[in-house]
Formats: sequence, C-alpha cells, structure tokens
Amino acid sequence: MSRCGHTEALQHTCVDELLCHPDRCWVQCAAQGPHYLPFFLALQSDDLRNLSLSGHVGFDSLPDQLVNKSTSQGFCFNILCVGETGIGKSTLMDTLFNTKFESEPATHNEPGVRLKARSYELQESNVRLKLTIVDTVGFGDQINKDDSYKPIVEYIDAQFEAYLQEELKIKRSLFNYHDTRIHACLYFIAPTGHSLKSLDLVTMKKLDSKVNIIPIIAKADTIAKNELHKFKSKIMSELVSNGVQIYQFPTDEETVAEINATMSVHLPFAVVGSTEEVKIGNKMAKARQYPWGVVQVENENHCDFVKLREMLIRVNMEDLREQTHTRHYELYRRCKLEEMGFKDTDPDSKPFSLQETYEAKRNEFLGELQKKEDEMRQMFVMRVKEKEAELKEAEKDLHEKFDHLKRTHQEEKKKVEDKKKELEEELNNFQKKKAAAQLLQSQAQQAGSQQTKKDKDKKNASFT
Ligand code: GTP
Ligand code: MG
Repeated sequence: MSRCGHTEALQHTCVDELLCHPDRCWVQCAAQGPHYLPFFLALQSDDLRNLSLSGHVGFDSLPDQLVNKSTSQGFCFNILCVGETGIGKSTLMDTLFNTKFESEPATHNEPGVRLKARSYELQESNVRLKLTIVDTVGFGDQINKDDSYKPIVEYIDAQFEAYLQEELKIKRSLFNYHDTRIHACLYFIAPTGHSLKSLDLVTMKKLDSKVNIIPIIAKADTIAKNELHKFKSKIMSELVSNGVQIYQFPTDEETVAEINATMSVHLPFAVVGSTEEVKIGNKMAKARQYPWGVVQVENENHCDFVKLREMLIRVNMEDLREQTHTRHYELYRRCKLEEMGFKDTDPDSKPFSLQETYEAKRNEFLGELQKKEDEMRQMFVMRVKEKEAELKEAEKDLHEKFDHLKRTHQEEKKKVEDKKKELEEELNNFQKKKAAAQLLQSQAQQAGSQQTKKDKDKKNASFT
C-alpha cells in the first residue's frame, strides 16, 4: 500500500486493495473531513469492463463531431520568420501559401530589430485558417548585434503573457480568443556554405525554450550540391555542440512516424523561394530562371521546399500548435506563476492549494503594504518637521529683516523730520528777511517820491 498524506494512525485504517493517495484516500480524516472514493477509482484498469453493445448507440461519431466543430470554428497558425534583411523571408512565405502577402522590403539602416505581424484569413476547401506572419525587420543590420534577439524574445513572451492574462480572467473567452502565440519559428540561415554565425547561434539559443525552431538554409540555389551536404552537417553539429534545441518532428504517432523520421535527416531544409511561373516542358512550375538553367522550387532534386511544406503544413501543423501550448506556453506559465509566488507543493512536499497561496501572497502583500505605509508616514512626519523648522528659520529671518528695516525707516524718518524743521526755520528766516527787505524797499521808494515832489515844487516856484 502506498502512503497517503494522512497521519500514521489513519493510514492503517485505509483499505488495502485501494491505492492510498492523498487525493484519493477515502478514510475518514479528522483534520480534513470525510473523503469519498472518487468514481474513477472504481474504474481502475483491473476493474475496467468491456461491454459489447447490442445495437448502434452513436458515440462512434465523436471524432466526426470534433472535426465538424473544429472546422466551423477555424484554425489559427502563427509563423515567425527570423532572418537577415533580404534573405528571402517574404518570398518563401508567398511560395509556401501560394499567394501574395503584403510586404515591403526593409532598408538596411534600421536602428534596431523590430517585429512586424500581419494576419490573414485563408481558406482551403472548407477549412479556414487565420494565419499570422511575423517578420523580423532589420535583423542582422546593426554593427552591435548583441541585443538583436531581445525584441524577438519580448514579442514571444508578450503573446504568452496575453494568453495567460486571458486564462486568468474570471470571465474567460478562450474559445474565440485570437491566439497570437508563435507556433513555428522559421530560422533563415544565410547560404554561406561555411558555418553558422554567432548571431544565429545566440538567437536560436535564446529562442529554443520559447518556440519551435525549424532551421532552413535560405536561397539554397546559390550553394553547390556537394557543399550543401557538408554545410547541413556542419550546421547540425554546431547546433548540437551549442545545445540548441530545434523542433523535433514527432515520431510517436504511427501515421506520421515514418515520414517524420525520414524528413528529420534532411534538416536544415535547403529552400528556394519563388512565385514566378516558368514553362518547363509543357507545364508551368514555380521556379527561378537563370541564364544557365532553371531552379524548380517544387522539384525535390533541386531543393527541400516540398519537404519543408510537408513538415510545416501538411504533417505537423497540429503538433506545432500542440507543442506550443503544452511545452513552451506551459513553461512560460509555470515560471510566471512561480514568480508570482504560486506553487503546487509547500516545502514539505504537501499539496498547496491555490487559495492558500493566494492567502499567503495576500498577507505578504498586505504586510509589505503596511510596512510601506508606515515608512511613508514616518517620512511624511520627518519632512513636515523639516519643513516646519525651515519655515521657522525663514520667519525668524523675516522678523529680523523687518526689525532692521523698521529701525532704518525710523532713523530715516527722524533725519527727514530734522531736515524739514531746519528747512522750515530757514524758510521763516527767509520770509522775515524778505518782509524786512520789502519794508525797507517801500520806505526807500516813499522817501524817493517825496524828494521828487519837493524838487518839482521847488522848480515850479522858481519859474513862477
Ligand atoms: P526583407 O523583408 O527586406 O528583410 O527581405 P526578405 O527577407 O523578405 O527577402 P525577399 O523575399 O524580399 O527577397 C529579397 C530578394 O531575394 C528578392 O530579390 C528575391 O527575389 C530574392 N530571393 C528570394 N528568395 C530567393 C531564393 O530562394 N534564391 C535566390 N537566389 N534569391 C531569392
Ligand atoms: Mg520581407
């Protein structure tokens, strides 16, 4: 009997035939209340009973129901194209989906790498596909390429975060949620025939835990066949020695195991892109025409384009979507929740409920909040005291200045009054002097006029 999470005494009372597990134990536990035997326990493999039906019931249509539901709902698939400017990203996307997506060539003078996403609704037969193509604009164009991977990682994380936020909502609408998480990352390797650039290795290493990487050699028509073979094995050995995890085509499912195992050998796929139709024999085919010959995109002797299309779209599209959700998103979600303080078990490996974590986190948060509030209050009181002291000092200065000014004003006033008195006295004296002078003047005039009269009288007397 395996041990349940109950106390020793209670474990002994557990029923032997049943696997005793903390979640499934059905003994009466004083601490946790009665645990009832869950229904699925009764259906353990030994007890599973195969019954033959006496007539048609209809649950064999379940797969069809699923297909119909998925078809009516539509699918979404998001591809990230990482590669240097002009390496052939847009041409390959157009060739893969046999259409012309909007794209404008990037300049080589972008200050940094930026991501551009465009979504399209495509339809093939009655299947609708919401396709998003994300382009890395300006990748590999900067002198310092140290941070080139950052915007890509940030973009991928942002899509995971948006999905997580939707999942954590009380009212979720994941059913019609536009999932923008990247399902496949086509990494375009330049056809140097030499080896991977350090930018390629660094970027792929940073992305490998976040996205399904499918490495491809771009413009494979520019590399000789014997060189291509060596180049492919060089790339693969470099990826292995640097611990870069690329997407592994699944081999666990019978229907695709063989094709996936065969195709894995051809990685990285050497592709050629072109939407131009060239007449070959009496048929038109997508090809690149050169003065010395024609490279057919869909000819497996010329390049691996068909292999890429098979692996990416026809065989593994659903697995890429699934891997994104179950592996990459799960990892992001786990790290994020752990960062937020959520965990499944406590330090004693006992299950930890979401509510307990929430309560613990809430208490921790409230404690921190209280601490912060106290600190702020103390700070506030201190600042108020400082300000008060500053104000008092300023007030004292003002009083002193006021007293000084008052004193100076009084002294000035006194001086002015003294001066006024002095001037008034001077004025009085002047007025007196003026009056005396006027008196003297009028007396002199009077005396003058009398003398003139006397002289006139004398004259007149002498005439007569
Ligand atoms: P940006 O968006 O500007 O970064 O460029 P891109 O990576 O989307 O490249 P694009 O598809 O615009 O192609 C750039 C040039 O390369 C065009 O002239 C294409 O015709 C050419 N080209 C694309 N694919 C191939 C290929 O497989 N082989 C060769 N030789 N040339 C190609
Ligand atoms: Mg482009």
